[in-house]
Amino acid sequence: MVSCLRLLALTSLLCIASGARPLSSISWSGDATSSAIPTAQRDFDYFMFVRQWAGSFCSTHACPLVPNRGFHFTIHGLWPNYSNGSWPQFCTPEDKFDEDQLEDLMDDLEVEWPSVYDSDETFWEHEWSKHGTCALDIFPSEHSYFGHILKLHWRYDLSAALRRADIVPSRTSVYRTKDLIAAIEDMYGARPLVHCGRKRQLSEIWMCLDKDLKAFDCDTSQEGNACQEVVIPPFKSRLDVDQLSSKDEEERDGVQ
Ligand SMILES: *[C@@H]1O[C@H](CO)[C@@H](O)[C@H](O)[C@H]1NC(C)=O
Ligand SMILES: *[C@@H]1O[C@H](CO)[C@@H](O)[C@H](O)[C@H]1NC(C)=O
Repeated sequence: MVSCLRLLALTSLLCIASGARPLSSISWSGDATSSAIPTAQRDFDYFMFVRQWAGSFCSTHACPLVPNRGFHFTIHGLWPNYSNGSWPQFCTPEDKFDEDQLEDLMDDLEVEWPSVYDSDETFWEHEWSKHGTCALDIFPSEHSYFGHILKLHWRYDLSAALRRADIVPSRTSVYRTKDLIAAIEDMYGARPLVHCGRKRQLSEIWMCLDKDLKAFDCDTSQEGNACQEVVIPPFKSRLDVDQLSSKDEEERDGVQ
């Protein structure tokens, strides 16, 4: 979550700094920081492949759309980046998100790419408009973008790599971040970035992919809010969260 907020803050700075064109004719649903990027800026350098550990966010939120699959990372997105630290976004506004194009992928998307809040469609629409439309040279259609990302997600299986190093969700264990990085590097030959949020909870793992979709070492010097240690809270199913809140109520009732 922290990285999203930072991203928003950064984006608005960039928009202001570059005197981005006003959004006179185009309006993005609720995203005031967005701006149309000229086609020429679409030529990016690499992808950031972002997966999230929903167990952290969902330890305090109901997350009704996230299926409980145990130790199972879900997709956040595949983002085109420039090697200078900035990135293109919202490149092809005329390419509107159309869920009908994803019909045959829908079952997999609901499991592998659920939204932790909002609706799945809102989440996918955002990822497509903001990032997917900047990668049309590699993925010429929405179906190609989402379909390939699913395959990448299975190819670079994060929980398999971590499990092999005995790193699994736990209420009590604290892991060294460098051990997570090493486990993924051992399996896939490339260093990822590990992000954490409040209380050192693992939030996301970012992998860097070249334009042939091969993983390479991320530039760790760009890592701002790295934790030395992380915890990986077990995923709570909706049922658990309901029980949690009714237990809280009982406790409150007891006090009254
Ligand atoms: C980064 O590189 C891109 C593509 O060459 C360019 O459009 C952008 O202005 C650069 N940004 C910065 C902050 O240097
Ligand atoms: C890559 O781009 C995303 C936005 O699409 C941004 O959040 C991220 O910080 C960028 N990564 C790097 C290492 O510059």
